[in-house]
Amino acid sequence: MHPTKTICIVGVTGNQGGSVAQRFLQDPTYHVRGLTRDPSSTKAQELAAQGIEIVQANLDDTSSLKSAFAGANIIFSVTNYWEPFFRADCRQNAAELGISCRKYAYDVEYQQGKNIADAAAATAETLDENGFIVSTLSQAGRCSGGKFEELYHFDAKADVFPSYVQSNYPELARKMSCVQTGYFMSSYKLVPDAYFGRADDGSFEMAFPTAPDAAVPHFNVNADMGNFVYAVAKMPPGKSYMAEGTTCSWTEYMRLWSKVNSVPASYRQITLEELIDRTPDAEFGREVGDMFAYSTEPGYDGGDRELLHAADIRKASSSPHRTHTATPHGANHWNSPFEASTLTSSGTTTAPYTSPQPTTPESSTTPSTSKPAKQAP
Ligand SMILES: NC(=O)c1ccc[n+]([C@@H]2O[C@H](COP(=O)([O-])OP(=O)(O)OC[C@H]3O[C@@H](n4cnc5c(N)ncnc54)[C@H](OP(=O)(O)O)[C@@H]3O)[C@@H](O)[C@H]2O)c1
Repeated sequence: MHPTKTICIVGVTGNQGGSVAQRFLQDPTYHVRGLTRDPSSTKAQELAAQGIEIVQANLDDTSSLKSAFAGANIIFSVTNYWEPFFRADCRQNAAELGISCRKYAYDVEYQQGKNIADAAAATAETLDENGFIVSTLSQAGRCSGGKFEELYHFDAKADVFPSYVQSNYPELARKMSCVQTGYFMSSYKLVPDAYFGRADDGSFEMAFPTAPDAAVPHFNVNADMGNFVYAVAKMPPGKSYMAEGTTCSWTEYMRLWSKVNSVPASYRQITLEELIDRTPDAEFGREVGDMFAYSTEPGYDGGDRELLHAADIRKASSSPHRTHTATPHGANHWNSPFEASTLTSSGTTTAPYTSPQPTTPESSTTPSTSKPAKQAP
């Protein structure tokens, strides 16, 4: 079968875009086009070898995006707050401007989001009815009634998707679906001392500024983002979603982790200041600390009760491809507790279109104690 539609994927070499690409590659009706700054990178070359059309584009350059998006039926958008946050040259720029690296990264991500929207608007006519699927997060300043005015990696996304698009491009907004993503299960690698510190008695202790009973969404981004976005593409446009595998409190998370790995472990709520103290980079501690506190009230999703979840997609769909979301992959032992959670906990939710995969929970894994990588939430 020859492809009749083209999906253009921003961030194809990354977690979210990469997962979306793998899912759409399985559907022969789609031609998959992926954007990267460097088509000669090893990752881009691997994707090209899989049959993905790799095109060079830069989110800082709207004209390159217009060329890349031209004629697309679907555009998947994602922006990365953390690259300018960590890059030495960006930190230098922020210092020269007299602003924090948190605000600097907001400005970059916000502008890149606007560039994507401007370029997508130029090809709005070719897009399917539900052809603009954007990865975003809740608008923390508004949802918290002004309490969290500096949760920059949330607002840089939400201020464009949906706000800027709705204000500037009504036709594009009508074709847009907003997909918020839960806590990536792989994020434990970033602040290992907060995820897996040690209590006085030697047991493992997770410590965040989130209330012990606050439910938060957890998400296996690499395995499930593609499944979720593929399912969203079949839905009517104009809706907002939370992409998550299991939603549970950090207390429950640690209970399951302890059980699966047969080691004593617990959760303890700490203050924002304590989290910052435990984080090698204070600015990073502040940014994620606010997120953990916001996750209590109004909640990671901003308290939005209208967001659609996997179960809503399943209800609206007649597809037979329904299965669980906890799909162990690679060496990410965090999938193990979630395998258990979908089997044992009530009220957990699952992704709508997870492809069947072997489930081989790893046993007695020891948490990483290495320093955070440069990669970030
Ligand atoms: N970790 C979590 O728990 C969590 C939860 C919810 C949301 N998020 C959000 O997820 C986002 C990151 O998504 P991810 O993990 O999929 O990212 P990722 O794996 O770090 O990949 C980033 C992608 O963006 C592309 N990119 C970056 N700057 C670009 C530019 N100037 N022009 C063109 N392409 C560019 C990169 O492509 P090339 O390098 O090939 O050009 C790469 O494909 C962040 O904004 C974060 O806030 C994270």
